[in-house]
Amino acid sequence: MNELRFDGRVAVVTGAGGGLGRQYALLLAARGAHVVVNDTGGSVTGHGSPTDTAQQTADDISIAGGSAIASTHSVTTVEGGRAIVDAALERWGRLDIVVNNAGIVDDAPFDQMTDHRLQPLLDVHLRGAFNVTRPAWTVMRDNGFGRIVNTCSAAGLLGSVHMSNYATAKGGILGLTRVLAAEGADLDIKVNAIAPIAATRMLDYSLRSVDALNDPASAAAAQEMMRPFLDRLDPALVAPVVAFLAHPDCPVSGEVYTAGAGQVARYFVGRTRGYHNPGLSVEDVAANIDRIRDVSHHTVPEGPGDEMAELYGALFGAN
Ligand code: NAI
Repeated sequence: MNELRFDGRVAVVTGAGGGLGRQYALLLAARGAHVVVNDTGGSVTGHGSPTDTAQQTADDISIAGGSAIASTHSVTTVEGGRAIVDAALERWGRLDIVVNNAGIVDDAPFDQMTDHRLQPLLDVHLRGAFNVTRPAWTVMRDNGFGRIVNTCSAAGLLGSVHMSNYATAKGGILGLTRVLAAEGADLDIKVNAIAPIAATRMLDYSLRSVDALNDPASAAAAQEMMRPFLDRLDPALVAPVVAFLAHPDCPVSGEVYTAGAGQVARYFVGRTRGYHNPGLSVEDVAANIDRIRDVSHHTVPEGPGDEMAELYGALFGAN
């Protein structure tokens, strides 16, 4: 198979000063892309002083013979998103790829989940993706080409204790991905998302905070037990999936892929065949709950039209 390259393409990767984003930027640049390496620096919870991690990644790309510039604007504001996109346009005159990866965490049980814990996560993950993608979208629309890779999470898709703020933000990104895929369909703008699994400072934080809240004494032991597993979760092994979704040859849109340790799989929104009764009662629901939940004949609706077609089929016997 020919090497999948990005020569002449311009990419923005947010949160690329460390962790997963750094690996995405390194791989795209190694395959020929010009990369805007965006990162504010700071701690895993979004506190602490800004650092020059974006410049470090950009320097490492340059030293390896690639092409990159650093951007330290925050994705949390409309102006920041605009400035990140403008950095690409001013330096290279185009923008082909956006990887919305910047993220923070701040776990707490729901009864301690204050607005101070919610708002920053909505701002970085959800509004951040909005703020960067909106100015990028008009460029991509006018060019009739674009690739956008958003970042969901197993915690957001499946739920995970003490992460209601994070999951609220990540769940929104799933909706954003689906809508933009539909709007980009005729423009060759493909929009997908990944749910990564990688041993970064963020995963380390989440594992430690769950253990510490429940039983501080066992936290270290649990971490040690997981060490052989964590050692396999190299963030560089997620980057090929992101690069594929960012490539001109990417055939899919509106989809979510989980990637970790070299394994790739697809998440999808499925619908059971269900139960229909035009005189539905509460007791009918109770009596048929197993049938309603039975996944053995599920479908995967591509959009609300498919959902309406399934209901139409149930009503008028077309299924
Ligand atoms: P990380 O903490 O190493 O990287 C996140 C980066 O985003 C940091 O470099 C941080 O400085 C940057 N950032 C934070 N706020 C920013 C802002 N306002 N503007 C620009 N940059 C900002 O964590 P990791 O693991 O690399 O996370 C990357 C993405 O993957 C995040 O969206 C995260 O939620 C997601 N994720 C990670 C998982 C994992 O297993 N590591 C699991 C599921 C999702």
